[in-house]
Amino acid sequence: MSEMSQKNRFNSSQLGYTIIESNRLDKWVIFGRDAIGMHAEYLSEDTLAFRLDSHTRRILIQKGESEDFTTLGFQVIGEGYLEKILETLKKRNVEIEKGTEEEAGSRGVKSFWRFYGPKGLRIEIFTDPILTDAPLSMLSKGFVTGQFGMGHVAMVSKRPERMIEFWKEIFGARISDSIEQKLSGMTVDITFLRMNPRHHSVAVASTKGLPMDPIPTRLQHLNLEVKNLEDMTGAYLRCKKLGFEIAHGIGQHPNDLELSFYAITPSGFEFEVGWNPIPVNETSWKEKKYKQISSWGHQPETSTVLPRIQEFRRGIASLFRSEFIPF
Ligand SMILES: [Fe+2]
Repeated sequence: MSEMSQKNRFNSSQLGYTIIESNRLDKWVIFGRDAIGMHAEYLSEDTLAFRLDSHTRRILIQKGESEDFTTLGFQVIGEGYLEKILETLKKRNVEIEKGTEEEAGSRGVKSFWRFYGPKGLRIEIFTDPILTDAPLSMLSKGFVTGQFGMGHVAMVSKRPERMIEFWKEIFGARISDSIEQKLSGMTVDITFLRMNPRHHSVAVASTKGLPMDPIPTRLQHLNLEVKNLEDMTGAYLRCKKLGFEIAHGIGQHPNDLELSFYAITPSGFEFEVGWNPIPVNETSWKEKKYKQISSWGHQPETSTVLPRIQEFRRGIASLFRSEFIPF
């Protein structure tokens, strides 16, 4: 795709919703509502939904075996952008499918298109969320969404250049910065991609040298940004009180300066709650490279010996597995 077209596409997309498959809905409702502080409602026995703002849906937990993310929904601004994205996918021979009315309703959107994206994650694209003014019943005072979207996700890739190109080509993503850090004898590289003023909507991590992916889920973590410092510290204390493991205690990232912690969800992947990341100002922003993931804190609060061994085993096994990226 031409440089111009990619430039035009920037600032037209934001993370809209996510769908997670889990058999642990009873634990998820406690995690999401009582620990993180979101608004929870059961749509049926098999579907749990969380709201954060005026969007009818932001996180859906659907009953199923995988304990993984199945879907990321992206809101794009206007039919024109949607058409451009669909045209690019067609040119790239990616099969696209329109969601049914019932599916759109369950996602809280008027209509959507979907295709199989990186790592088999279904990527769904919509223009119009269904909004509601039904009151929110939340322990958190609020989440930062709006033009920034619902938060960010991080993933590991064995083909990071291709993966980054995918997000650039489809959503006009730009690189905000990168971090290279030595972890357990390996060098890990993380590239932070923005689609709007949020510092990153997607982060792509990779190992230098041998391409490994020790993370058993499609995404390593989902991040939500809360409006107040106490919403973050409160969620941290509630996670601990309710017995949810903390993967990394409170700390700060050096690039977006977000203060955050990482809890382990009932499905096993991490959930970051953050406060006060700096937005990107396009006219003055300079891309930088950092040497550490955290400027302070983010200390592991779980026993790391067994998880490290499991991670190492999965890392080795991943060497022999191919990674799907649609083109
Ligand atoms: Fe994050």
